[in-house]
Amino acid sequence: MILITGGAGYIGAHVALEWLGQGEEVLILDNLCNSQRAAIERISTLAGKRPEFIQGDVRNRRLLDTLLHDYPIDAVVHCAGLKAVGESVREPLRYFDTNVGGSLTLCQAMAQAGVFHLVFSSSATVYGDCATLPINEACATGQPTNPYGMSKLMSENIMKSVASSDPRWSIGLLRYFNPIGAHPSGLLGEAPTSTPNNLLPYLLEVASGQRPHLSVFGNDYPTLDGTGVRDYLHVVDLALGHVCALDTLRGRRGVSIWNLGTGRGYSVLEVVSAFEQVTGIKIPLSIEARRPGDIARCWANPQKAIEELGWQASRSLQSMLADAWRWQSNQLGQVDVRQAN
Ligand code: NAD
Ligand code: WQD
Repeated sequence: MILITGGAGYIGAHVALEWLGQGEEVLILDNLCNSQRAAIERISTLAGKRPEFIQGDVRNRRLLDTLLHDYPIDAVVHCAGLKAVGESVREPLRYFDTNVGGSLTLCQAMAQAGVFHLVFSSSATVYGDCATLPINEACATGQPTNPYGMSKLMSENIMKSVASSDPRWSIGLLRYFNPIGAHPSGLLGEAPTSTPNNLLPYLLEVASGQRPHLSVFGNDYPTLDGTGVRDYLHVVDLALGHVCALDTLRGRRGVSIWNLGTGRGYSVLEVVSAFEQVTGIKIPLSIEARRPGDIARCWANPQKAIEELGWQASRSLQSMLADAWRWQSNQLGQVDVRQAN
């Protein structure tokens, strides 16, 4: 059985669905601070099989000890955490407590229970502003400019130390680039509970009339059209990367680091233009100043994951955007129904 912390969230839910589809038993631990119980129902509907679900906190050592004792867990995927960069600047202690404290408590409980396979949701943010592109795993980790990024780097370092201390550990640090999109069914996707932070949730809110325009943060970067370039990858591809990573980890020891990205970058304006083509909806833009802390360009060299995991992202930008829009439209449909009642 695989324990997925944060498995009711955007990425964890897609990961849970992939494993259930492969016949694995899944236990989700989530405190629902940024997700809803409805996600568990949706996973069950799509998989035709219900994951076990415990509402609780990954920092709760006693709870972790109980779960690791009561369920036949042999591997953990640690997605639980807080992820809003701006919020982390305002509330650093909450971010360190949840993200670093959560990783620490989880590793302690796993060691005690003798469970040594761990997959961690890290981020390309640990590279900082890498001078050479595409970014490969040998690129030095940078100085993250915000507590969120620092919390990911600190968690990675804790896991590296833990693995060096005991050869039974097998840990995969997955450095995600920019996950977007939704399940093609339109039933599972990102549901930000407050003001979105990332490009896609903003764009979707503009497209659905909830915001008047999309702010483009800077058009004077040294990129093809002056706007920031990122490596966007479909959340379903990302979820499949976790399955491949754990399969590989079962046959090795120590710490392994893999970039999960497509290897191709798109600018903000390219994303907007692709969205307009896919949906037929015009997105009003407002060109604004650069967002503090943003880098100009960032995309992965995914070669290591291709060779070692046998994993490669295959879904196009168009499918990411079409799937995200289907999810968003379904969400709004549900809101309308509730309002009509
Ligand atoms: P999300 O907020 O949708 O999911 C995180 C889940 O963790 C939520 O369901 C939340 O309720 C839960 N959670 C938070 N604190 C918890 C705690 N103390 N105990 C138990 N559950 C807790 O975010 P996501 O986009 O699915 O991200 C998953 C992981 O991937 C996070 O660790 C995030 O930092 C990392 N990541 C995300 C991105 C991205 O762009 N989405 C990029 C790189 C890395
Ligand atoms: C993408 C591009 C913006 C919003 C962040 C975190 C990273 C990871 C993923 C979690 C940039 C531009 C954005 C908007 C815009 N998170 N933009 N208008 O900054 O690459 O990465 O999310 O782990 O750690 O730092 O993603 O989606 O915020 O921005 O012009 O309203 O879109 O400037 O060029 P980012 P993003």
